[in-house]
Amino acid sequence: MAFEMALIRRAAAAEVMLRRLLDDRPLSGEIARPDRLMAAMRHGVLNGGKRLRPFLVMESAALFSADGEAALRVAAALECVHCYSLIHDDLPAMDDDDLRRGQPTVHKAFDEATAILAGDALLTLAFDILAGEATALPAERRCALVLALARAAGAGGMVGGQKLDLEAELVRPDEAGIIRLQAMKTGALIRFACEAGAILAGAQSDDRERLAEFGSAIGLAFQLADDLLDLTADARQMGKATGKDAAAGKGTLVALHGADWARRQLDGLVGQAHALLEPYGEKAALLKAAATFVATRNS
Ligand code: IPE
Ligand code: IPE
Ligand code: MG
Ligand code: MG
Ligand code: MG
Repeated sequence: MAFEMALIRRAAAAEVMLRRLLDDRPLSGEIARPDRLMAAMRHGVLNGGKRLRPFLVMESAALFSADGEAALRVAAALECVHCYSLIHDDLPAMDDDDLRRGQPTVHKAFDEATAILAGDALLTLAFDILAGEATALPAERRCALVLALARAAGAGGMVGGQKLDLEAELVRPDEAGIIRLQAMKTGALIRFACEAGAILAGAQSDDRERLAEFGSAIGLAFQLADDLLDLTADARQMGKATGKDAAAGKGTLVALHGADWARRQLDGLVGQAHALLEPYGEKAALLKAAATFVATRNS
């Protein structure tokens, strides 16, 4: 209950910040912000969503007593990357989905070209937010965040994972291959979310590594739960189409080992995640609850 309240509170703060960042007014150095592009970006971002990644950034930052406003901006930057990844993931050339967060996908509500460009602009905006002086952190911390997000989002992270995921429809990877592609397509951004709190707080390197490891564990759990829900939940519950992985013959751990195995695996990952936070005691209670939520969520 405390966790759900905290998630709602953090999500509301993220929403306000995102709305502000997606304003029509151009920033200094920009020439103009086209109406239809901005509308498509807002459609892809301000449409609900659990805001789990922002929550993880803000809670991991709070664990090390970081500045809350800076954490909120970093959280918003990461959510921009996440929403861009969803807009592009839904495109006809990728998963070809019409429904996202209970609403028409961006290419349905607008058009394909606009959806591609909205994703492009959100990705760029994320780095604008991290680098900008309004994110009131020492320059070397902003730089470290830019670097870590670039590594998490790019060819060796989320985008690379999306590529491997598409290839997995043609040639089924083995278990190690599936784990690797999921660590990339989903895990990398969730890992960044947790590590970012430590980076922006200027925490010690062993704390940073511990939080990154925690992020890796819950990142894997998150995609495992997503694959399980694709099999067991319906579109109304999820706000997106389900049953698509099996239909596409997608190589997932659920397809490989079945739902019961996946549930046991989820328990193991949550245990691992909790153990990693043991040194922080009560202060990490909400992050621990987030790990449980990731594995037991039903939407
Ligand atoms: C969906 O992420 C995409 C995956 C990585 C499986 P979320 O389930 O966090 O989506 P929103 O942000 O709540 O819509
Ligand atoms: C998407 O994985 C992961 C990213 C967007 C990077 P999925 O294709 O399984 O996500 P959903 O099920 O469409 O949300
Ligand atoms: Mg996909
Ligand atoms: Mg998809
Ligand atoms: Mg899915």
